[in-house]
Amino acid sequence: RPRVLSGIQPTSDSFHLGNYLGAVRQWVALQDDFDAFYFIPDMHALTVPFDPKVLAERTRLSVAQLLAVGVDPERSTIYVQSHIPEIAQLTWVLSCITGFGEASRMTQFKDKSAKQGVDAAGVGLFTYPILMAADILAFGVDRVPVGEDQRQHLELTRDLAQRFNSRFGTVLKVPQAHIVSEFAKIYDLQNPTAKMSKSAETDKGLINLLDDPKRSAKKIRSAVTDTGSEIRFDVAEKPGVSNLLTIQSALSGVGVDDLVAKYEGKGYGDLKVDTAEVLAEFVTPLRGRVDEYLSDPAELDAVLARGAARARAVASETLASVYDKVGFLAPG
Ligand code: TYM
Repeated sequence: RPRVLSGIQPTSDSFHLGNYLGAVRQWVALQDDFDAFYFIPDMHALTVPFDPKVLAERTRLSVAQLLAVGVDPERSTIYVQSHIPEIAQLTWVLSCITGFGEASRMTQFKDKSAKQGVDAAGVGLFTYPILMAADILAFGVDRVPVGEDQRQHLELTRDLAQRFNSRFGTVLKVPQAHIVSEFAKIYDLQNPTAKMSKSAETDKGLINLLDDPKRSAKKIRSAVTDTGSEIRFDVAEKPGVSNLLTIQSALSGVGVDDLVAKYEGKGYGDLKVDTAEVLAEFVTPLRGRVDEYLSDPAELDAVLARGAARARAVASETLASVYDKVGFLAPG
């Protein structure tokens, strides 16, 4: 079976709606037809300021959320990045074939380092995309389901694989990004031309799956729309309305066109109330399932131990071939 792989950082107390609709929902769908590898990149989480205790909690919480949304440990390999030392080992080799200028062009680095201040930003933030390339290339992956903001990192990953193969011999599989365009960029409710992000200046436009649905309903009620009154899907003229339509459509399964027809003659208030309701129906049982998984840390650890064993078996084969190709002696 072709292989799929993706990760979500343990850098917040809850997945947000962008993470879920842009990426994780696809993970769940893909596990039927693909050999799926899904992981928590805890090493990436060290590239921004962090608290060790909080990081450990968020890593568990992230795994619980994956299980709660339907990532199935019987069908998918679920693991934590730091449990697979081969990823860090492969990162070094890839670092040495990455151009400094090439890495400097990564827009996410530019954005995040500007936010932290160039002097506060660590070198890890700079080499982050190379670690991400290793995450993917260690596993011989066909598809990587991500949101739009990861596209440039995927391009780098493909370039590095091709470069390695042409210099040293074909070892690394060149992966494809799997980006579902309708949902690849969910926007901030207060600033509907910017992506929904946990690092926005305020969290007023951010919908966290694990928040009280009443709190999210309030945020949806105060979502920025526009001065008109007509409900139609028009990202250029009506970004706020279009974003709410996208969200409601994704969560309800009702197509955007059908929603637009349903709202003919109705107002933004109706759209907001219904969107909040559909969200509440989705998150209420989800929150319960997350709590259940969290109440059994031994079971979570068992899932992660099984995942790590399977993942290491695959990654160590890739690493051995890579080491051989670059001329490292096999250890005696
Ligand atoms: P992260 O943790 O920031 O986000 C997880 C996933 O959510 C997607 N996403 C969005 N999609 C649509 N609309 C949004 N507003 C939105 N915000 C976030 C992201 O595109 C991502 O797919 N570098 C990655 C984690 C990573 C990874 C990997 C992913 C590390 N190694 C290997 C794939 C393969 C990241 O920071 O995602």
